Amino acid sequence: MTARLNVNIDHVATVRQARRAPEPSVIAAAMACEQAGADGITVHLRGDRRHIQDLDIRLLRDSVTTYLNLEMAATDEMLEIALQTTPDAVTLVAERPNEITTEGGLDAKANIVAVRAAVDRIRETNILASLFIDPDPAQIETAVQVGANQVELCTAAYCEATLGARGIHGEGAERAARELQRLREGAELAARLGLQVAAGHGLTYRNVGAVARISEITEFNIGHNIISRAIFVGLPAAVREMKEAISLT
Ligand code: PXP
Repeated sequence: MTARLNVNIDHVATVRQARRAPEPSVIAAAMACEQAGADGITVHLRGDRRHIQDLDIRLLRDSVTTYLNLEMAATDEMLEIALQTTPDAVTLVAERPNEITTEGGLDAKANIVAVRAAVDRIRETNILASLFIDPDPAQIETAVQVGANQVELCTAAYCEATLGARGIHGEGAERAARELQRLREGAELAARLGLQVAAGHGLTYRNVGAVARISEITEFNIGHNIISRAIFVGLPAAVREMKEAISLT
């Protein structure tokens, strides 16, 4: 079965926050994504509020009819917001103050006590609890131990290997194949242990196909590449093209 696509619309808010202006509206963007066939909307409420704002989360909860996935750090502040707004899923991520974007997966193993407490509170509210982790067997086993419903496997290392001149057909090919194999083995292990398996970070129209062939992966969270493409072809077409890239497997 073809994996679902949640469109991450953080960078619609990045453009808006560049001017602290009302436009572009993340709500209008979410509606356009849904109408174009997105299976869900993903947003990351960061501690520094660099793109998505608290009000966006409340308005999205009222308007998104497909599936709303809130990415956040496992802090008390974020848990309070999540439990009040009740998205369909919460994805716990690692967050460092000065990073340009999320740098790799959450170290659930090293932070098992805090992660377990957060997962407990999320699941008590009937929200799906997902952990964004590297495709590392120890992290996947920890996800089971803390009672997570899902893991989102970080595709950043695979994506970096496929980028540019050293990409899929160049010198990076061997590294990309190795990283793809890690994702495959991680997805198989997670599914065998009873977890739902998602994937994301850095995926593009060109490199998503190989990952979409991993049948255990049932959900993708993709943002930057879709919003970048939308500048040239519009958001609905950009979403449709990504859906197509995922289904052409
Ligand atoms: N999944 C997670 C957990 C993320 O933190 C991000 C980036 O916010 C994404 C997916 C989407 O990554 P990208 O914007 O590179 O597609």
